[in-house]
Amino acid sequence: MPEADSSKAPKNYHVDTPQKSEAFFLKGSNELDWGLKNRLANIFEPSSGRTVMLAFDHGYFQGPTTGLERIDIDIVPLAAYADTLMLTRGILRSSIPPTFNRGVVLRASGGPSILKELSNEQIALSMEEAIRLNAAAVAVQVFVGGEYESQSIHNLTRLVDEGNRYVIATLAVTAVGRELVRDAKYIRLATRICAELGATYVKTYYVDDFDTVAAACPVPIVIAGGKKQPELDALRMAHNAVQQGACGVDMGRNIFQSENPIAMIQAVRKVVHENATPEEGFDHFQSLCAKG
Ligand code: R5P
Repeated sequence: MPEADSSKAPKNYHVDTPQKSEAFFLKGSNELDWGLKNRLANIFEPSSGRTVMLAFDHGYFQGPTTGLERIDIDIVPLAAYADTLMLTRGILRSSIPPTFNRGVVLRASGGPSILKELSNEQIALSMEEAIRLNAAAVAVQVFVGGEYESQSIHNLTRLVDEGNRYVIATLAVTAVGRELVRDAKYIRLATRICAELGATYVKTYYVDDFDTVAAACPVPIVIAGGKKQPELDALRMAHNAVQQGACGVDMGRNIFQSENPIAMIQAVRKVVHENATPEEGFDHFQSLCAKG
């Protein structure tokens, strides 16, 4: 027990200063519980309101993807530059040092491999396991228009219910099947459905008229990187996305398949967090490459 407060100094209650009550920095997130906001602040950088998530969960349906053959060699050196890692629990436990202390987003849906119908996913992670692994969020694929659309949406809503109970965020990932057109009309539909059904934030693809996608989605959106492009093009996509309302990127192949992944993730950070132009980001990439 501490000793009694016997100080004779006058107390100062600052009675003339109203207590601060600041809005949380992420859109649509002000009414969330403190614990959930705290986890989101470990995914998104509060000073910029944005995130650079490093996505390397591809193996959950396609095995050792190019650039991910050895997580310990290919990915661990990049972790220091990421605001958040998006990965499976198997890779987290086996390959990521527990000293990593930024956000962890765990893949929580799965089932079919690339050899089968991909939309036929089930929930593949319990909330208890997510808590045990100190996850900030769980990620679930949502196949709007896909063969197993309803099932994937129920996966989302079940994780949202469980996540809200234990204040773990739910990231809805809009998946685009081979047969679906990837345009603003479709992406607005898919992202809005995810937000309406309770996703804490949504991951989707950058498309023309992305500003309308971001405006119509009441919770934060991050963009997937998609297929590997030349570095300047990938930086241009990231720049356009954040300037048009995205709260960051969840980028995989455009970082880990780059000729210099450590330089590329730092260039992406410059574009996302510092509002650098794509050209400034690319100059940064080139100067880091030149330094070796
Ligand atoms: C795909 O299903 C995974 O969720 C990936 O994490 C996602 O596609 C992002 O990776 P990339 O930037 O390589 O598209």
